[in-house]
Amino acid sequence: MVDLKTTYMGLELCNPVIVGSSGLTATVESIEEIAKQGAGAVVLKSLFEEQILMQIDKSMEDMPAAFRYPGAEDHLRYFERKHAVDEYLTLIRNAKKAVNIPIIASINCISSGDWTHFAKEIEAAGADALELNIFILPSDPDISGEELQKRYFTIIKNVRKETSLPVAVKISYYFDAVAGMLQRLSHTGISGMVLFNRFYSPDIDLDTETMISGLPYSHPEDFVMPLRWVGLMYGSVDCDMAATTGIHDASTAIKMILAGASAVQMVSAYYLEGTEYIATVISEMRQWMEEHNYTSIAQMKGRLSQGNLREGALYERVQFIKNFQQQS
Ligand SMILES: Cc1cc2nc3c(=O)[nH]c(=O)nc-3n(C[C@H](O)[C@H](O)[C@H](O)COP(=O)(O)O)c2cc1C
Repeated sequence: MVDLKTTYMGLELCNPVIVGSSGLTATVESIEEIAKQGAGAVVLKSLFEEQILMQIDKSMEDMPAAFRYPGAEDHLRYFERKHAVDEYLTLIRNAKKAVNIPIIASINCISSGDWTHFAKEIEAAGADALELNIFILPSDPDISGEELQKRYFTIIKNVRKETSLPVAVKISYYFDAVAGMLQRLSHTGISGMVLFNRFYSPDIDLDTETMISGLPYSHPEDFVMPLRWVGLMYGSVDCDMAATTGIHDASTAIKMILAGASAVQMVSAYYLEGTEYIATVISEMRQWMEEHNYTSIAQMKGRLSQGNLREGALYERVQFIKNFQQQS
């Protein structure tokens, strides 16, 4: 008998298929549907740090420097009107009442300011865990990599002071020494890391010659970046890993587990195919496991991680040389 149970961030999940933070996880009704389709957990739509700061009525002078730019006040008022913090807490409470799968709250943040106390309220509302989507695009040439990295550690420290909930960080790969950074982050007491965040990409409309935002959805070939880093980091980080970005089917989800992920977070595929597709992904995972004589996720997890490959670190280099020799 195949058992898809997995442990992620210390939470027992009936399977590793998590619906990631998005509009799909913004209402109780759609969370109920997601649970009905069999998902292992949901990460709620993110609340923005700015929304929390507006709630506590901070004046612009008290705002972190990152928010002090022309038009910022209007921008922040927009957040205040559109998304009430109280509504977020109500969503957590109601989702907890409505479904039995773990509910992971999510905060999108860029600083370690006064908002971090809010983690306590998320815990009191009944969330099972908290995911911090630390969304810092290293686009300011005057801020050093070291300074930016420090921000991640301060955010985690301040949040962990406020809550005993398991905390995960969802991050990008924009670090100069990715492996070291991921390893150091995993030593901060976090329970999980989500690799990798997908930034909204800019695009240009050639008719109007204006900047527009690119397609919000990932492409199936985007899976290679999380696969590489999950495979490389398995066994060298002190927390669970969830893979995200470019996982559009059961096959890619299985690859992530074989590389070392405890769970996968999928979003674009469910926007494109509908939430009924959750059940398909789970059933195809189960079928593959049966065909390959696996009875548990634990047996599969990390089997093809870099550390468990006989060739070890040589593997990538050898493949690289082989490929280039064949093509030249
Ligand atoms: C429409 C949409 C809304 C999203 N909203 C959030 C969000 O509020 N917070 C967050 O952390 N990620 C958000 N994401 C990112 C997803 O959680 C996920 O990390 C990303 O889409 C990559 O996974 P995928 O390839 O399965 O789509 C959103 C993605 C989409 C497509």
